[in-house]
Amino acid sequence: MNASGQPKLIVDNATKYYDTQSGPLHALDNYSMSVNDGEFACVVGPSGCGKTTLLWSMAGLHSLTSGTVILDGEQVTGPHEQIGMVFQEANLLPWRNLTRNIQLPFEIKRRPPDSERIDKLLNRVGLDGFGNKFPRELSGGMQQRAAIVRALSFNPSVLLMDEPFGALDAFTRDEMNLLVEEIWLETRKTIVFITHNIAEAVFLSDRVFVMAARPGRLAKIFDISFPRPRSLDLMATREVFDLVNEIKAEIEYQPGAATAGVGKPALEDNNMVETADG
Ligand SMILES: Nc1ncnc2c1ncn2[C@@H]1O[C@H](COP(=O)(O)OP(=O)(O)OP(=O)(O)O)[C@@H](O)[C@H]1O
Ligand SMILES: [Mg+2]
Repeated sequence: MNASGQPKLIVDNATKYYDTQSGPLHALDNYSMSVNDGEFACVVGPSGCGKTTLLWSMAGLHSLTSGTVILDGEQVTGPHEQIGMVFQEANLLPWRNLTRNIQLPFEIKRRPPDSERIDKLLNRVGLDGFGNKFPRELSGGMQQRAAIVRALSFNPSVLLMDEPFGALDAFTRDEMNLLVEEIWLETRKTIVFITHNIAEAVFLSDRVFVMAARPGRLAKIFDISFPRPRSLDLMATREVFDLVNEIKAEIEYQPGAATAGVGKPALEDNNMVETADG
């Protein structure tokens, strides 16, 4: 809930058709979800089920065919200062150093960059002293840390993350998940985090929203009540193992899911699941 007792972010009956050469493509169907102020929500679902479509709608980056997105009681109709976004790729411009990449949104808005905040954030994510490095000089994990700093540089109250660690190796991904939980515990931003990786969703979230495919719709919501801060050891427990399998079954047994994401594995397990005890 926010100050007015309402959920922070509401997606109400969101339906989205894309215009394609072969006709309208139904990507999202009557999808509704509410996220409370300070909540960590994850959305999982098979490839192509409409997760990015949903997140872009939340961010006001494209319009819905019908339905609304409401932030703090007001409809989101375009990019919003209270919403920060981290994409699957870090999307850093190769000819700008890290600091100048992070300052870019300020330049676009013709505002002086909040250098003090940016420096603090760089320090927080372990990139102190890397501001003058170029993206090619940084690892994938470091680039995504920079993307997180860029998204937080405006101090938004909502952070939307679209499979931000999908391209990272399992160890770096675990490290990044620990970092994200720490930052969330410190800042209590409202986070919507998209992932294919169910174990990652269980590790991070207060609630997991399972999406079914074609068209994308809400299948089920799981409450995740493990105490915080969570440790990677938690991921090796029987409880988590069973929960991951329960969520996985929910995704695999949705009608239409089997045909989603043709040519791609529908789900990806990571080492956290494979090392589960029992
Ligand atoms: N700009 C677009 N124009 C036409 N169709 C699109 C567009 N963007 C996405 N789609 C289609 O909409 C459906 C949902 O795509 P979306 O990218 O939202 O899925 P996703 O769940 O994010 O997939 P992934 O897990 O692979 O990233 C897919 O069938 C996709 O081909
Ligand atoms: Mg996507």
